[in-house]
Amino acid sequence: MLEWDDAPAAPTPVRTAPPRSQATPRAPEPKALRIPPPDDFKLVPTQAQVEAGATGLEDITIGARRIQVDDKKIINCRADLNQLVPFKYEWAWKKYLDACNNHWMPQEINMSADIALWQDPNGLTEDERTIIKRSLGFFSTADSLVANNLVLAVYRHLTNPECRQYLLRQAFEEAIHTHAYQYCIESLGLDEAEVFNMYREIPSIHDKAAWSLPFTQSLADQEFHTGTPENDQRLLRDLIAFYVVFEGIFFYVGFVQLLSFGRRNKMVGVSEQIQYIMRDESMHMNFGIDVINQIKIENPHLWTPQFQQEIADMLHEATSLEIKYAHDTMPRGVLGLNAAQFNEYLKFICNRRFSQIGLKQLYPGAENPFPWMSEVMDLKKEKNFFETRVTEYQTGGALSWE
Ligand SMILES: [Fe+2]
Ligand SMILES: [Fe+2]
Repeated sequence: MLEWDDAPAAPTPVRTAPPRSQATPRAPEPKALRIPPPDDFKLVPTQAQVEAGATGLEDITIGARRIQVDDKKIINCRADLNQLVPFKYEWAWKKYLDACNNHWMPQEINMSADIALWQDPNGLTEDERTIIKRSLGFFSTADSLVANNLVLAVYRHLTNPECRQYLLRQAFEEAIHTHAYQYCIESLGLDEAEVFNMYREIPSIHDKAAWSLPFTQSLADQEFHTGTPENDQRLLRDLIAFYVVFEGIFFYVGFVQLLSFGRRNKMVGVSEQIQYIMRDESMHMNFGIDVINQIKIENPHLWTPQFQQEIADMLHEATSLEIKYAHDTMPRGVLGLNAAQFNEYLKFICNRRFSQIGLKQLYPGAENPFPWMSEVMDLKKEKNFFETRVTEYQTGGALSWE
């Protein structure tokens, strides 16, 4: 087998074209199209574009005016969506590049210590086993929900090529995350049907998934189009539900719980998978927040006091659901954690999310009982955190956190 470093084999002779005199007669040159100078043409949207905004699948108009940065809009754009440049939202392109630099795959992580510990009848307590199974139960279907929301709902309505470029990368990362959970479940020999059905069988897992569904369902409706204040608010509501709540609040009890195993040198492979996933998720959330804030900048009329109150109520309800999930997965103290700490932690997290989208904090004074979470996030600093392998895994470039 050839290795990358092997010297290349001698080149195969290339058959060259016969001299022109021996070649078969050439087909007549097509008539040159008369393409007027770009400035002569105005961008004329079709009726469908006017009604529904651009999708990227419109007919190609020969000679249409060239795309300018100012033609680009994050929603309800009428300009061609197949042209990545000129960039308008550099932050979206940068996140795409950073995400590519952070590429990883689940099967690169050594799971042998986890398998031995799981199979040892005295390796873990029943409460610890419950946490592992519930977390995998929640996450294994949650990432599929997020991916489906991206591909079937959000992608269609974000009318900007550099944002779409990031969405394509994010969708692949969600596939990697689902793969990682499947890999953990398979490695530990868990009952796959039990774990993958938890979102239909365990109330606190069901409640989080069920809470999010109406947001994506309305957007995935083929009859739904943005372009009215009411529908643009629907899109904004979905983006906040998925990026701020689902990826920004609903993942965090599970992250803390699973990373707490790694801190105690238990289930180090699962913890390492979660470390990579959390790094990706943090970037997803930050991208979503940038999108939300950009929509607000370009459409300030959407951010009414009434809508802000609705969003505040939504985040409050979601925080309560996540607190309930913490109690349900951890009825007793375990791994140095207890449910009361999560009450405080989730209020702290919720406050941060409020600030990030420009709302007044809902729980003033809430503090972070898990300051180590921010250290775990920094893979470069904590490269021997779990002592499984060097986890400084970047194909290049630098990683920065929120
Ligand atoms: Fe994910
Ligand atoms: Fe995500």
